[in-house]
Amino acid sequence: MLQKPRGTRDFLPDEMEQRRDVEQTMREAARRWGYREVCTPTFEQQELYTIKSGNAIISEMYTFNDKGGRPLALRPEGTAAILRMYVNEAKVMSKPIRWCYLADCYRYERPQKGRYRQFWQFGAELIGADTPAADAEIVLLADEILRPSQVRFDLHVGHLAPMKHLLRDLAPGKQQEIMALLDKRNFEGVAASLAAIKNEELAGELEALVNCRTVDDAFAICGDLPEKTRIEEMIAILDGQELAYQLNLGIVRGLDYYTGMVFEGFADNLGAENQIIGGGSYRLAHLFGGEDVSSVGFGIGFDRVMVARGEIAPPAQPVVAIVSTPEAQDWAFSVGRAFRSAGIRTELNLLERGLGAQIKHAAKRAGWVLVIGGNEAAAQTVTIKNMATGEQQTCTVQEAVAEVTV
Ligand code: HAM
Repeated sequence: MLQKPRGTRDFLPDEMEQRRDVEQTMREAARRWGYREVCTPTFEQQELYTIKSGNAIISEMYTFNDKGGRPLALRPEGTAAILRMYVNEAKVMSKPIRWCYLADCYRYERPQKGRYRQFWQFGAELIGADTPAADAEIVLLADEILRPSQVRFDLHVGHLAPMKHLLRDLAPGKQQEIMALLDKRNFEGVAASLAAIKNEELAGELEALVNCRTVDDAFAICGDLPEKTRIEEMIAILDGQELAYQLNLGIVRGLDYYTGMVFEGFADNLGAENQIIGGGSYRLAHLFGGEDVSSVGFGIGFDRVMVARGEIAPPAQPVVAIVSTPEAQDWAFSVGRAFRSAGIRTELNLLERGLGAQIKHAAKRAGWVLVIGGNEAAAQTVTIKNMATGEQQTCTVQEAVAEVTV
């Protein structure tokens, strides 16, 4: 038996219905904030991803040359392609631009629970608003999209400026090394790495910054920064809206395009892969041939949200099964069309078997069975049976539709 590729999943109808239900809730919340859905190609020129991150990123992507020898990559995330599209198609549109997307993403990672090679992100990008209000809007939108998904999570909001300020005198390679260690909260590693360059004091400051929970404490550690007012104004908006979050100036983020505000959310019932959202402000458009425009956005790990919320069936919808005799088949098709026009899921009998066997099969799923034999075909009626109560009556198609829709 052939198997699906490693790190991918199949979704059966029950699961797909739940996914579509959650997707729709997310789209609706984004729409209410003015975010309109867009779509970009699943594969892009490899360069779109290496231009910022360098060739090292290739080992984490699905890359290939097409038959014309062009180096391509399956998208590992949504943001770069969205900004490429903005530069190609939309740079004359009036800003800010609010876009959202649900996109399948591909990463060549070691699969484990919550970490797949094909996964979906629900993302939003706000392009061309370089203000604390824009940063705040994106965090509030993320919260508003995630809350109705019935996942319990903690939101951490931070900013890169204080940490970068503390690290400013270190060589770029050393800065990256320290930031990667801080991302893992490996303070011993940070201390050892800084001891090697005789800068023990900095290790203490960094640990204090990562652990501080108010902006006042943060600026007491790192001193006044040009970004101070910006950070304070954003925090004031979030607090004014009574958002439940914690300040976390230790957020580093894995992708390297972030420039200012950064935020992440963690589900409280997932294991190691518990980050269900990541985002922040960034600049990418100038790398793709556009002018230097500031953007802010997030990507929600849709699959992790689905795992975290567990099985919650979408609201039940009526299911009708038509059982019929061969001579009544034309009438059965017409009745099916009338029920579908009324928006009702209606399944016809397709197999050549007796009414009894058909009803037994229908009883497994359908709330109502329409029995259509020669008498019903001649009189242009149906016999409708309510499977929950066992009641049945012969009536017109319109009456039967009404019976199901009440
Ligand atoms: P990211 O943090 O790399 O950010 O991914 C966003 C979310 O996608 C993660 O928080 C996680 O929930 C989910 N995710 C990542 N990798 C996997 C995987 N292998 N399997 C399942 N879920 C995964 C971005 O991608 C940025 N584009 C977010 C952004 C948008 N920043 C600004 N705008």
